[in-house]
Amino acid sequence: MRKKPVATSAVSIAILVAGVGLASAEDIDHGRRVFRLCVACHVADSDTNKFGPHLKGVFGRRAGAVADFKYSQAMQAAGAGGLVWDDASLSEFLYSPRKKVPGTSMSFGGLWTSSEIADLIAYLRTNP
Ligand code: HEC
Repeated sequence: MRKKPVATSAVSIAILVAGVGLASAEDIDHGRRVFRLCVACHVADSDTNKFGPHLKGVFGRRAGAVADFKYSQAMQAAGAGGLVWDDASLSEFLYSPRKKVPGTSMSFGGLWTSSEIADLIAYLRTNP
């Protein structure tokens, strides 16, 4: 007789709880408000490009990879050089776009606080 995989479900529940701990509904709400700083140039919930490329599914995406968007040379080179958007690289880019990708055409000074950045990333994650 096969045994119920008790250990496996305990592990998945632990992961689920850890995940919820990382991004509470409150964080995501705050992140959505922080995203107002970006909406002049970006859409996150559909694949529409504005002045900036759409950010739907930006997680795990190579930098400069939206096919019908005209990126700067700098962003194309960063992507070709292996830059992929994840928690760490997005945090650095949003803290200081021009430091992370010198020569980027994204004219945005950067966010200041780690909670703004973390919550914004939590919000972006809700748009796979
Ligand atoms: C003034 C317009 C503008 C604002 C405001 C702006 N961006 Fe951008 N963003 C751009 C442009 C233009 C690019 C393309 C940059 C390039 O090609 O160098 C870009 C690129 C990006 C990329 C890389 C996307 C990719 O496909 O590689 C991310 C991520 C990003 N922006 C996130 C944000 C977030 C989050 C905010 C708000 C905190 C923000 N941007 C605010 C214009 C803007």
